[in-house]
Amino acid sequence: MKSVNRFRISFESRSENESFARSLVGAFLLPLDPVVEEVTEVKTAVSEAVSNSVIHGYRGAEGKIYMECEYSEDGRVRIVVRDEGVGIENVEKAMEPLFTTNTDGERSGMGFTVMESFMDRITVTSEPGRGTQVVMMKKLDVGYAQ
Ligand SMILES: Nc1ncnc2c1ncn2[C@@H]1O[C@H](COP(=O)(O)OP(=O)(O)OP(=O)(O)O)[C@@H](O)[C@H]1O
Ligand SMILES: [Mg+2]
Repeated sequence: MKSVNRFRISFESRSENESFARSLVGAFLLPLDPVVEEVTEVKTAVSEAVSNSVIHGYRGAEGKIYMECEYSEDGRVRIVVRDEGVGIENVEKAMEPLFTTNTDGERSGMGFTVMESFMDRITVTSEPGRGTQVVMMKKLDVGYAQ
């Protein structure tokens, strides 16, 4: 993907930064003049990835979340959300619909499924004790407005 615009950022692992990351990506993609529904899907996928880093990666403790977003002229968007948290033992299993390690009944185990259905492609790499990286791609239906 030949990117025409790109940003990288890091922020604290705090639940309020979930909506910050979401808004940031929405604002960044505006020059593409995208379809609202598609941007909402991308933003939702971003929130799911960030909330996973906050809740599971760092388990509410301090930590940094790294996010990268780029788009190309033809509307291809690539987003990376990475943490240096506890990591995932079995990524394949973690990505199954309804799988959750959360025991208080607050989580539904649908985060990865939402990311997969709202984006064209998602790749999760993780190492226990080292952290987790989620790479998401989506081709937006846009006319480049520049
Ligand atoms: N960044 C991460 N670090 C460590 N574990 C993770 C991370 N992201 C996901 N997981 C693991 O994968 C499981 C599935 O994640 P998923 O987002 O699909 O569901 P959930 O977060 O448990 O529930 P929901 O997203 O519906 O609130 C989590 O329960 C957790 O065990
Ligand atoms: Mg989740």
